Parts: sequence; structure tokens; C-alpha cells
Amino acid sequence: MGVHELTHPLVRHKIGLMREADISTKKFRELAAELARLLAYEACGDFPLEVRTITGWDGNPVEIEQIKGKKVTVVPILRAGIGMLDGVLDMIPNAKVSVVGLARNEETLEAHTYLEKFVGKLDERLALILDPMLATGGSMEATISMLKRNGCRQIRVLALVAAPEGLSRVTAAHPDVDIYVAAIDRCLNGHGYILPGLGDAGDKIFGTK
Ligand code: PRP
Ligand code: URA
Repeated sequence: MGVHELTHPLVRHKIGLMREADISTKKFRELAAELARLLAYEACGDFPLEVRTITGWDGNPVEIEQIKGKKVTVVPILRAGIGMLDGVLDMIPNAKVSVVGLARNEETLEAHTYLEKFVGKLDERLALILDPMLATGGSMEATISMLKRNGCRQIRVLALVAAPEGLSRVTAAHPDVDIYVAAIDRCLNGHGYILPGLGDAGDKIFGTK
């Protein structure tokens, strides 16, 4: 359990490119999707395998390994989490998608929930929560609590950038949850933005600023 910051050079390279002030919406989206794939790869590293026998190219039986009955729901936090969804589904194409909508009040920094749409049988599923930014941790703490209230017992978080303040808050409230993050940054500024950070990830992914 705990916080896993990815150290792979591809991750360090791509997150660095995302910090460019005048990055285009297209490039920001592409990098978010690529990093989401790498985070999913890391977060699924302990999935159990089973051996199956299939018929190979020459007509002979071949033993292959396949992931054993792992039920996954991917949970993008609207809006910005949508920017990671396709990348994760590229890696886990059979995952079901749950959606939560949260918006941070820019003055109080409190997260307000406006949508909660979970798939069934959450008690049997591993939930992978997607949000590029873990700042104060309020949105993530609330999302994990929502999933637990609905019966989910296995939860992992995939984030692009996290602030130490937010990580402390989420790990204190939910010590049973693993957090996979491409970069742990320095701190929050007075408006709850991560430094050096990426700026407003939702605006950059949706092209709203
Ligand atoms: C941003 C971001 C996270 C949240 C992080 O969303 O995408 O969800 O803030 O901040 P926190 O850790 O302090 O809660 P925002 O509320 O701006 O909404 P958006 O994704 O719709 O732009
Ligand atoms: N939300 C963002 O999009 N960026 C931050 O730095 C903090 C919250």
C-alpha cells in the first residue's frame, strides 16, 4: 500500500513536456493518454495469471498465460479524468466505466459532487480512479469514500501530478488505497494549484481556456 511515483525515463520525459506553458490542446491530450497507459501498466503489475491451452499457428497446443478473472471498473473524475480514460481502456479493454462528477469550489477549495454513476457489483471489482491532478486531495478523498459507501473494497488511484499536501490527506483518510502518480510536485500555491504543476488540466484537455 502507499504512494508509487513512477521513475521510468519515458514517464519523466512525457510529464516534463506537459509543463510547457503554451502546449497545444492536442499535445496535452496525447501526453495525458500516453501517461495514463504507463500508469495503468504499473498499477496492474500484480494481476494474477492463469495458464490456458490454445491451438498455435502450426496446429499444435500452446500454453499461454492470461489474466485470471480480474473485474475492473475505471472511474474517471469529471471532467479532467476523461483525458486519461482512453489510455487506460487501451490497456484494459474489458473494464467497465463508472463516472463521478466533482467540481472544486475555487474559493473554498471544497469538492462538490454533481454526478455519481457506478457500475454494478462494486464489491467484486477493482476500481481504478483517474484524475490528472491530486491537489488538496479533497476530490480524491470524496471519490474514494463514495466508492467505499457503494461497496467497493479494492481501490487504486492513477494521477499525473500530485501535491505532497494532497497525498498526505488521502493516505491518512484511506491508508488501504494505492496511489500511482507520474510526478510528486513541490507544493500548492495560495489558490490550491500545484507547483510547478500543469495548470488547469480540465481546461487544457477540453480546450476551455
Ligand atoms: C480539478 C482536477 C481534480 C481537482 C483536484 O478539477 O481535475 O479533479 O481539481 O483538486 P483537489 O485535489 O484540490 O480536489 P476541477 O474541480 O477544476 O474540475 P474539472 O476537472 O471539471 O476542470
Ligand atoms: N486542478 C488543476 O487542474 N490543477 C491544479 O493544479 C489543481 C487543481
